Amino acid sequence: MVSVSVIIAATALLQAVSSAVPPGFKSVLANNVIVPKTTKDLAKNNVTAKWAPGYPKEWGSEDYHHLFDIPDPDDTFNGVITGDGKVLALFNNTHAELFDLVNNITASVFQLQVPDKNFIVGVNVNPSTQGGYDVFYGVATYMYDYAKTTFRQRVGSDLKPLGTPIAYEGQIGTISKQGKMVTLGGQIYDLSTTDNTPAATLEGQHDITDFSFSPDGVHLASVSYREETADLWNATSGEKIFAFPPTRAQNWLTRFSPDGKYIAITLGSTNNTIQFYQLSNLTAPPFEIKGFNFPSRVLDWSPTSQQIAIGDDGRFRIFNVPSKEIVQTWEVESNDYGNWGLRSIAWLDNGNQIAWQWGYGKYMYDFKTNTEWLWTIRAVDHSWGPEGLYLLKDKGQVVTVDGDSTVRFWKI
Ligand SMILES: *[C@@H]1O[C@H](CO)[C@@H](O)[C@H](O)[C@H]1NC(C)=O
Ligand SMILES: *[C@@H]1O[C@H](CO)[C@@H](O)[C@H](O)[C@H]1NC(C)=O
Ligand SMILES: *[C@@H]1O[C@H](CO)[C@@H](O)[C@H](O)[C@H]1NC(C)=O
Ligand SMILES: *[C@@H]1O[C@H](CO)[C@@H](O)[C@H](O)[C@H]1NC(C)=O
Ligand SMILES: *[C@@H]1O[C@H](CO)[C@@H](O)[C@H](O)[C@H]1NC(C)=O
Ligand SMILES: *[C@@H]1O[C@H](CO)[C@@H](O)[C@H](O)[C@H]1NC(C)=O
Repeated sequence: MVSVSVIIAATALLQAVSSAVPPGFKSVLANNVIVPKTTKDLAKNNVTAKWAPGYPKEWGSEDYHHLFDIPDPDDTFNGVITGDGKVLALFNNTHAELFDLVNNITASVFQLQVPDKNFIVGVNVNPSTQGGYDVFYGVATYMYDYAKTTFRQRVGSDLKPLGTPIAYEGQIGTISKQGKMVTLGGQIYDLSTTDNTPAATLEGQHDITDFSFSPDGVHLASVSYREETADLWNATSGEKIFAFPPTRAQNWLTRFSPDGKYIAITLGSTNNTIQFYQLSNLTAPPFEIKGFNFPSRVLDWSPTSQQIAIGDDGRFRIFNVPSKEIVQTWEVESNDYGNWGLRSIAWLDNGNQIAWQWGYGKYMYDFKTNTEWLWTIRAVDHSWGPEGLYLLKDKGQVVTVDGDSTVRFWKI
């Protein structure tokens, strides 16, 4: 089965809001849905994108939805779909449900190792090196805090739990394709073993904001917004290979390009710049894209590494790399931006589509057909924030994991 699903990770909002368009922004009616008015929309050959038939759509008009237990008024709910598009994992604050998307049935429900008055954060489900899947979940003492401990529960190909979970210290930073996990505290674990002692430790780094493994798993880039650092590490030994020159700014994100040639670093504070270093010549000065209207917390490289999509306030742009030419812009019309940054952005299906989230709207655009989709909340809905959008290409479905503890399935 060829399917593409991408987690759109984003920080949950602390307040429940129920408006399709945040205050200060202009709106229009499209297909009887209130949507933000754009000053610039995506386009092909100078023709503005058109809505897919029947779109935009609101919650309630989905083809069907799935609930795990009763919707939790405190939003202790998480949902993720595995990269192979076969499993939907749902988490309330005490249990996980693994839903088999191939057969459209619940395959298992099992209890999580969470002490009373603690919270599940940082969930992830990956194919296991021993077959089946590894279900990762973090346990934190406050709802929006980082995990103090991350558990790894293996499940078989029938999605039923096998054995007891392994506990690791700290929260997952990222996991490489080669099966290494790095935690925000700078510990590297080898997931091909059941050993929970670190295989390597990043010396002197305890407060990392973001990580990126090189595609071959050899290198690891890190940034810290509090320490204002950006570094390159040996992902096997944990030795520092290179300290990028001080940015004197809060560094929010780092991402290797899919071809492994570039390392992108986003600078916040008042710099609002993105730097691109070349792995083949680390001492060469970076090339920079400047003039973002807000620190960029959201970006994604195209699968070809020739373009990068970067969000800032009320907008995202796609740039050619390394020419920095802007090839697409999506921007909402506002009197007062007031920090409504893009929440997520991801290329899907080998770069044929791009998906993004702004406010409570989840969007997708198809480059070939110049078509746009939007799924958004109604005035009567509450949302505790975004959890994700997945494209199941073979099924012709988009799945939205929504901030009302509901997973919605939409035919496209
Ligand atoms: C798009 O429009 C601009 C300005 O109207 C023009 O310069 C450009 O050549 C057009 N591009 C295409 C692909 O038609
Ligand atoms: C989570 O779901 C399980 C299974 O439906 C249920 O027994 C449990 O009470 C739920 N936990 C919370 C915190 O709602
Ligand atoms: C999956 O099951 C739900 C009912 O739980 C049903 O509404 C839906 O049509 C089914 N989807 C598929 C693709 O069979
Ligand atoms: C990383 O460290 C390992 C183990 O010490 C070593 O074999 C390897 O050559 C190093 N790789 C790089 C890119 O420095
Ligand atoms: C970021 O801004 C600070 C303060 O203006 C400045 O000192 C620093 O050089 C800037 N960093 C870069 C990489 O331009
Ligand atoms: C690395 O970049 C520097 C500065 O641009 C340049 O002088 C040097 O020749 C480059 N080295 C290689 C190996 O390309």
